[in-house]
Amino acid sequence: MRSFQDATVLVTGASSGIGEAFVRNLAGRGANLILVARSADKLEQLAQTLSQQHNVRIDCFPLDLAVADSPETLFEQVNSSNLSVDVLVNNAGIGYWGNFTEGEIRNFQQMIDLNVRAVVSLSYFFLPAMIQRRGGGIINVSSVVGFQPIPYGSVYVGTKAFVLHYSESLWGECRKHGVTITALCPSTTNTNFFQVAIPDERAREIRMQKTPKTQSPDFVVEVGLNAFLRGKNHVIPGLASYLSTHISQLSLVFARRLAVTFAGSLFDPDK
Ligand SMILES: NC(=O)c1ccc[n+]([C@@H]2O[C@H](COP(=O)([O-])OP(=O)(O)OC[C@H]3O[C@@H](n4cnc5c(N)ncnc54)[C@H](OP(=O)(O)O)[C@@H]3O)[C@@H](O)[C@H]2O)c1
Repeated sequence: MRSFQDATVLVTGASSGIGEAFVRNLAGRGANLILVARSADKLEQLAQTLSQQHNVRIDCFPLDLAVADSPETLFEQVNSSNLSVDVLVNNAGIGYWGNFTEGEIRNFQQMIDLNVRAVVSLSYFFLPAMIQRRGGGIINVSSVVGFQPIPYGSVYVGTKAFVLHYSESLWGECRKHGVTITALCPSTTNTNFFQVAIPDERAREIRMQKTPKTQSPDFVVEVGLNAFLRGKNHVIPGLASYLSTHISQLSLVFARRLAVTFAGSLFDPDK
């Protein structure tokens, strides 16, 4: 695929943050869009503004993707609207940070349902037509934390490691069909993500002080879309993030225990 002009791109988690940045960028590149998230009003507003601005078609499907059968429902709704998806952006995701045993099991299960199960299900439903057409593909939003075990983020980090390995494995299966799978691995990005991940304001401030440099969603998305067009299996936006991720990989090779303990000292909510 050389460009997104006239392609149809489905973006999950399109109502805010990185997902909204995907939608704005892709509309500017001439893509028709299918927007998915729970907030119907936000999706409709975004669709109305951007379809007029860029003369593209935008359809909205408000859905809770953490509900077991909603990926299949979405697939059926998209098909019955006579839409065919060239590119799927699995972006919707949530995080919870804190002591594992003090967290709510329902929150962890919801996170696994959204960050893992929905990603696998949507890929499973939309990928065969891409393979048949020999084009397009999937961008899965993972994270730099997918490379690095981090105490106090165990379940979230586990979901993002899954997305990274799943995407790269699938990239290896699909490239012979002319279909690209790219894992986009941002570091801390300026969105609403941490309001859900760390609901306590003081704890959130402390966490953010430990990672003062945040990236803009627009930058993350621009890098992600260009990497996809170049057929990359994964991409880490920003040189500093790229280097620190690879240095942490080296320390994991030589001193895995030490690297995990160091990460834990950064993210311990009691310190
Ligand atoms: N921000 C960061 O520092 C960072 C870093 C690395 C990776 N990421 C990843 O980037 C992705 C996007 O997060 P973000 O930072 O843009 O956060 P965000 O601003 O909170 O956006 C999350 C999006 O997911 C949607 N969503 C949440 N629960 C949903 C559900 N059950 N069903 C359908 N949609 C749902 C939200 O819309 P509704 O509430 O309207 O449903 C929203 O559009 C996530 O996968 C996250 O793990 C973020």
